[in-house]
Amino acid sequence: MGALDNHNEVMHQMQAASLTLERVIARRGSLSTIMPEYEGRLPAQRVPKYKELCFGSCRWFYRIQSIINQLVERPLKDNEIRVRAILTVAIYQLLETNTPDHAVVNEAVDIARKLNKPWAKGLINALLRECIRSRRSLSKEDGQYRHAHNPWFLEKIQTLYPDNWAQIIKANNHRPPLCLRVNLRRIKRENYLAMLGDQNVSAHASPFLPSAVYLTTPMPVNSIPGFRDGLVSVQDEGAQLAGYLLNLEKNDRCLDACSAPGGKAGHLLEMEPSIHLVALEWKERKLGAIASNMARLKVYAHLQQGDATNLDWWDGRQYDAILIDAPCSGSGVVRRHPDIKILLEQQQVDENRAIQRQMLQQLWQTLRAEGKMLYCTCSIFPEENEEIIEEFTTTCGNAEVEPISLPEGIPQHKTANGVQLLPSMSANDGFYFSLLKKTD
Ligand SMILES: C[S@@+](CC[C@H](N)C(=O)[O-])C[C@H]1O[C@@H](n2cnc3c(N)ncnc32)[C@H](O)[C@@H]1O
Repeated sequence: MGALDNHNEVMHQMQAASLTLERVIARRGSLSTIMPEYEGRLPAQRVPKYKELCFGSCRWFYRIQSIINQLVERPLKDNEIRVRAILTVAIYQLLETNTPDHAVVNEAVDIARKLNKPWAKGLINALLRECIRSRRSLSKEDGQYRHAHNPWFLEKIQTLYPDNWAQIIKANNHRPPLCLRVNLRRIKRENYLAMLGDQNVSAHASPFLPSAVYLTTPMPVNSIPGFRDGLVSVQDEGAQLAGYLLNLEKNDRCLDACSAPGGKAGHLLEMEPSIHLVALEWKERKLGAIASNMARLKVYAHLQQGDATNLDWWDGRQYDAILIDAPCSGSGVVRRHPDIKILLEQQQVDENRAIQRQMLQQLWQTLRAEGKMLYCTCSIFPEENEEIIEEFTTTCGNAEVEPISLPEGIPQHKTANGVQLLPSMSANDGFYFSLLKKTD
């Protein structure tokens, strides 16, 4: 990686964030795969700021590119990714944080010095100073500035949701609320809220789901009261719906086909500990995350490595219920994973569709007659949701769509085969659910 990424030096959070963003722009990973590497190399006190810079620079990436375009005399070339990344992280700080301007410019120039490219140092210095001078007079008119989304993604959302697109974009640009799922087997929600109150942690109960609690101010997961003991888990309210919709019965044999890191598996077991749950996941390295989640919650799942697009892993015994939390674009969880704005491509959506179809077809064979299957994604694209289910139910011959009724007040779009939740400012992420019953 060159002089910028010297493993022997103590890194500054801005340098680490620039290197992280550079890799995202170059499609060499996502924030969740790259960030742990740098977190381990930074002094602990710099990690929160590093994370903020990574998330913020991705969240506002397209707005900042509009600003850069306004400030440069000639557009940056595509291969000037490193310079683009440094500028983006610096401008994010100038506009969205209270770091003093001179500290931002000095640090950016210092990083640029290590590039050994005098032109880059000069450009970064000049452009940041110009940004400080003209930040109030920057044009806020163009769509990229106003909406801060990749143009193709914005256009797609506008086309799909002509009435709701502005709300979706606004939610996507917002920091996500921190939502907890209270383990109601272990503690009543009111008692958990009282426990938070005792520790001066401000929170409120969701009016929709009995297990959901919102913290007013986000905090590190391990500091959340009761988290280590399994009293609560971090889970979006939309994701919590899966457990309620599947509504398992005592001793049900259930397959969670795409299980890691085990968020929904844990909920299913909390709701009905007598179930026999097989937690399937194709990435071996992700099984550890499921195991530690189950251990934290003090529940048991049978962990199985395997690919849900074939049945090589299956022991031939049919399940009473199946959850397919399918791999998807993540277009409903952009506020939680703002790098999706940069990384998402239509081609990836098309590839997911093939996997989603294949999973449904294969796993349907492992479901017993009268059994139920919940298909869900964290996508707002009908091509990964409604269209997949429509295609499946019309070709498979023994699938019936079960009605879904969600608590009133949750903003939802009922569809012919399920329900689509859109990301909302103060509550759930975007999710799709379809509940199917096997008729024979
Ligand atoms: C949306 S995430 C699941 C989240 C999980 N259900 C939870 O609530 O914590 C999708 C998971 O499916 C896994 N996956 C993707 N393709 C798969 C396949 N062909 N077979 C099994 N798992 C797969 C991914 O590695 C990822 O962990």
